[in-house]
Amino acid sequence: MKDAELTDEQKAELEKILEGVEPTEYHPKTDDELKKIARDLADGKIWTDRHCDHPGQITTCFCNGALYGFWRLGQHYKKKHKNFYGAYPGNLLERIRVLFPDRQKVLHLFSGTLSPELNSIRFDVSDEFKPDICDHIYNIKDHAEVLSDRDIIIADPPYEKTDFERYGAKPFSKRRVIKDLSEVVQPGTFLCWLDTRLMQYSKSQWIHRGDIGVGVSSNHRVRLWTLLECV
Ligand SMILES: C[S@@+](CC[C@H](N)C(=O)[O-])C[C@H]1O[C@@H](n2cnc3c(N)ncnc32)[C@H](O)[C@@H]1O
Repeated sequence: MKDAELTDEQKAELEKILEGVEPTEYHPKTDDELKKIARDLADGKIWTDRHCDHPGQITTCFCNGALYGFWRLGQHYKKKHKNFYGAYPGNLLERIRVLFPDRQKVLHLFSGTLSPELNSIRFDVSDEFKPDICDHIYNIKDHAEVLSDRDIIIADPPYEKTDFERYGAKPFSKRRVIKDLSEVVQPGTFLCWLDTRLMQYSKSQWIHRGDIGVGVSSNHRVRLWTLLECV
């Protein structure tokens, strides 16, 4: 947005947000470097990476309590399970994890190929990759007792009707799932939901904490991490 398009009130608000903050360029190439950036984010610094033509680079900014950005992963990515349709590309999962360094009790929803991990619970309807909980998402509330201590949920559901077909699954109401999740976890728990649509949720159950777009390479769908915090 050009300066001329900002009202005086908006300019004052922007100045307040930017007070004492030096925009910085980062070019993270290793997980340690990404973690350092995550710590800067947690400290409330605004940062930006303006050159996003390398898969290890990120464009994100933290603003007024919410995180916004776009990650262009590029086509030089590898999948741990190349044959599994919809597996996280490259370091996409690691990227979202390092944004929440203090959150280690993860619920991986729609976990697919993910391996077992200390402190994490994997949930999927298919038993192909031996999830910790194998059930239909509509039964999530039946597992409330073991899931209530989770401090972050990372969810990668099938996106569209054709994606559901690839898993031999029937489309479900994501709105219902997001509501059910708010009844399973404690206030303060984060939900990171990856999808191709803006998700529907009730403001009485979730606070919006940001959006991060994800692009892989030409002619692929653009996805979005929606970040919410349980009320
Ligand atoms: C996009 S894939 C997730 C893949 C995962 N990100 C990975 O890296 O392997 C979607 C997953 O949702 C699961 N799924 C589909 N319908 C489901 C349902 N009703 N309840 C629970 N899981 C479901 C599928 O079995 C599939 O593993």
